[in-house]
Amino acid sequence: MSSNSVYSLHSSNASLVVDCTSGAPVVLYWGGRLDNATTPEMLRLLSTPQEAQASVANEAPIALSPALGIGFHGDAGLRVHRNGRDWGVNPVVSSCTQPDDQTLEIQCIDPACQIELHYRLSLDADSDTLSAQTCLKNLSSAPLQVDRCDAPALPIANHLSHITAFKGRWAHEFQTETVGPFHGSFVRETQAGRTSHDNFPGLIVHDRLFGEHRGEGIALTLGWSGNHRMSVTRLISGRALAQLGEVFYPGELQLGEQETYESPVLYSSVTDSGQTPLSQRLHRFVRSHLTDERMRGKLKPIHFNTWEAMYFDLDTPRLCALADAAASVGAERFVLDDGWFPSRHDDTAGLGDWTVDAQKFPRGLRPLIDHVHELGMEFGLWVEPEMVNPDSQLFRDHPDWVLSVEGAPTVLARNQLVLDLTRPEVCDYLYAHIDALLQEYPITYLKWDMNRDLHQPGDQHGRAAVHRQVLAVYALMDRIRMAHPKLEIESCSSGGARADYGVLAHTDRIWTSDSNDALDRLRIQRGCSMFFPPEYMGAHVGPRECHITGRTLSMALRAGVAIMGDMGIEANINEMSQDDREVLAAAIALHKQHRELIFTGDVVRLETQDFEMAHGVVAGDRGEALFSYAVVATPPHSAPGRLRLHGLDADRLYEVNIVWPEGIRSHTPSILDVINGQHVSGDSLMRFGLQLPILKPETLLLLHLQVR
Ligand code: GLA
Repeated sequence: MSSNSVYSLHSSNASLVVDCTSGAPVVLYWGGRLDNATTPEMLRLLSTPQEAQASVANEAPIALSPALGIGFHGDAGLRVHRNGRDWGVNPVVSSCTQPDDQTLEIQCIDPACQIELHYRLSLDADSDTLSAQTCLKNLSSAPLQVDRCDAPALPIANHLSHITAFKGRWAHEFQTETVGPFHGSFVRETQAGRTSHDNFPGLIVHDRLFGEHRGEGIALTLGWSGNHRMSVTRLISGRALAQLGEVFYPGELQLGEQETYESPVLYSSVTDSGQTPLSQRLHRFVRSHLTDERMRGKLKPIHFNTWEAMYFDLDTPRLCALADAAASVGAERFVLDDGWFPSRHDDTAGLGDWTVDAQKFPRGLRPLIDHVHELGMEFGLWVEPEMVNPDSQLFRDHPDWVLSVEGAPTVLARNQLVLDLTRPEVCDYLYAHIDALLQEYPITYLKWDMNRDLHQPGDQHGRAAVHRQVLAVYALMDRIRMAHPKLEIESCSSGGARADYGVLAHTDRIWTSDSNDALDRLRIQRGCSMFFPPEYMGAHVGPRECHITGRTLSMALRAGVAIMGDMGIEANINEMSQDDREVLAAAIALHKQHRELIFTGDVVRLETQDFEMAHGVVAGDRGEALFSYAVVATPPHSAPGRLRLHGLDADRLYEVNIVWPEGIRSHTPSILDVINGQHVSGDSLMRFGLQLPILKPETLLLLHLQVR
């Protein structure tokens, strides 16, 4: 809908208003759905500016690309030049069209600087999620140096004073951190050349009292698996804006005449009722727009992954024995992890030589795969295509195929270097080898790993190549998926260092973290669930003693935590006690019973005290729910309180069953003895809550609710 150069997009719960009257395209409003009585003119009137003291008469607007040419003072997300000239950009709207009710295409031209900008803003009617992208074109015959070209900038209203973003490290991803009101810029940036463990490209800007079920907020995330930057800047006038975009190395991006650059897509959703609805909207968007069609509605199989069971020490008889054990507890997919290719006895050699090791597998992978198939499981394989060990045939044949910086000593990480995927011959080599494996063997799943940062991302011409490298990885994934339409790909990067909305469009699962420590996982998975739906979140039952933290945790807890994601096993089942195997098999059966709900329902996170954590999934029609409640530390009181649920239908009666751990009882009579099979109203479960039994630390309950 447009009125005098002001354009509006509406979805069920959100509205976007873009004002082009000043010549620069400006987001006038991005928030909860505006009432029909509210007109853009009213918003313009209500936002009448005033000249501030010690300031210019008319402050430059917070345009989609704030313009240095008209005096935008601050962190402008568009920075270009030609040998030091043409930096003063002032793009003016030349056309604005609405190809459909949900999309706005805005074209801007700067005749002086000879650039054109094209913005595409699209508000998904069902998920209330905005996708926004900037496209820059060089109109001059002189090359244009691009230092920065962010996705469209969004203004941040004054009351959204707080920011929740993510920190973390290897094996401890998705840790949230909230900062309060600030002056200047809040900046999170990575030059890791991948999404990174520590700077997930997403944040939530929100009000002071924001929680899971109350408060206003805007979620922003950049769909990109390379270098990126997120900034929220409060200008001296008090106005604030958020900008997300790529970070370039010096000279990395230069556009020739008529060449274009497309920024990564910024995804954003808004809420006036807390963080949980925000995640639900984003999940809905991921499910309807980023999930590949062949995966929609698919009940993902239970994985067995060999890594923590066998590491590099592989042979067919022991793998077959593991496959037997995996099938016996209910696994449906057997994934052979690292170690299957020549010289791969540890992480010092072999990467790049993508053929089956004839020493470990004298008859190839066939006998193992046949055995896995006979057991009724699919077969998957680990690869790390972008990497090469100096100790490999590939490197000996093509030492020049790696990214490097001339004259500087090579930086090794995990004993490996990064192949230069901007060279077509490198991609062709990788495609040919992976394709050959997929042709020879019935492999339906690749765990695609990337185990180091890009420290020296120079191509053969000495130019920085992170941007082109990321696009080349996406293209290689697509090329392989296209040739093998049934193939699924998991995005792994030393755990969760390549988990973002960019890679989701090319892959089908993320490996959330290398830590299978169930206590740590509760927090990692909670953080991950803010942007990713459960069916993407790889969640494995690890060994009794966690290989990362050394902590020993019960099978009931380990399995209970994994049930709520895309469940798998990553431990030597043949070394487990009979009791543990039985508990594991029961957990897998329970996951299978409820996975349709877990993979399609709405995530609901509950707010609890520090010693406990709780979350759940509720079916779209509110007819069913599964909630997890865990005691993670010693409670402060001798008896616990009631757990108040969320997201249910207040008016309906739910049958309540505590379904995990099997047969749990307290030392004295408790709710555990009376609640199963009882019917109570959604209202009572939400307003009053369910009295919890006394539980030891490191105990996890699963509560199933079903409308009868
Ligand atoms: C990375 C992955 C692990 C495993 C190893 C294999 O660390 O995150 O899951 O695949 O590589 O080397």
